[in-house]
Amino acid sequence: MAEDTQPPLAPTLMEADDQVDEGLGSDDDASDTTSLKSSVINFEIENGRRYHSFRKGAYAFPNDDDELDRMDLENHIWLLLLGGNHYIAPLVEPLKILDLGTGTGLWAIEVADKFPSAHVIGSDLSPVQPQLVPPNCEFLVDDFEQEWMWQDNTFDFIHGRLLLASVTDYPKLFQRAFAALKPGGYLEIHDIDPESYSDDGTLTSDSNSVVWGKLFKEGCARAGRAILPLEDYKRLMQDAGFTEVQEMIQKRPHNAWPKNKGLKRLGMARNSWQEANT
Ligand SMILES: C[S@@+](CC[C@H](N)C(=O)[O-])C[C@H]1O[C@@H](n2cnc3c(N)ncnc32)[C@H](O)[C@@H]1O
Repeated sequence: MAEDTQPPLAPTLMEADDQVDEGLGSDDDASDTTSLKSSVINFEIENGRRYHSFRKGAYAFPNDDDELDRMDLENHIWLLLLGGNHYIAPLVEPLKILDLGTGTGLWAIEVADKFPSAHVIGSDLSPVQPQLVPPNCEFLVDDFEQEWMWQDNTFDFIHGRLLLASVTDYPKLFQRAFAALKPGGYLEIHDIDPESYSDDGTLTSDSNSVVWGKLFKEGCARAGRAILPLEDYKRLMQDAGFTEVQEMIQKRPHNAWPKNKGLKRLGMARNSWQEANT
């Protein structure tokens, strides 16, 4: 297919922008799909951290190097959680894949390598993805909370990972994904509960990590992006029309204490980042 033979694309902006920055000249002779306008790449700096500028304020977390390192580590952690796999859906030669809120784009790049005949699109508010990517991988600047640009029945697979604190309306997100998927296509959402728990009850309600988790949830709710309780995902997907919804809940240790080697490795990965950044 023509779209599978395109050269690598730098992240592109699909949406018209009403602000023109004279410093970058007029964009009159460039289409919105070929230029990244200044309002997208002039990132905001606040308290020493860098934030997205497209739809400024929509996402509360930074997009600077420290955060991109953390996201790449998250990619590794999720691979450990999923036994080395990028997804669980029983995909058979998918042709079109969308990764919502792709972050550094590592998932999209690795999945594009896995399925060379698929066209993999990663979309995000921040154009922070690498330019050197497989020819079948493309990145777009887009807001998944706005009207989707995709026609119905476009994708075989839609993936979203760690979108907590990014979504104001989960029912709408799942409805849009349902419409954009081909019949028989899959939506896969991976996320975390940011609260901490202990199997043996030694983590008490006044421990700092428990209090942090509760305050984080409270802050997200106040910002209009409440964390979805894990038990709500399945029901909301079914409400959107999805059938055969599979739910998988796993533990994600904070440290190297677990006896189980896989969990220990996972905890060590998380711990190494926390120690390097505190
Ligand atoms: C915690 S990161 C996760 C990145 C990636 N999915 C991963 O697992 O490594 C959340 C990402 O979602 C993006 N995001 C948040 N709100 C968004 C929106 N409304 N539209 C598009 N991307 C969004 C952020 O810019 C950020 O890159």
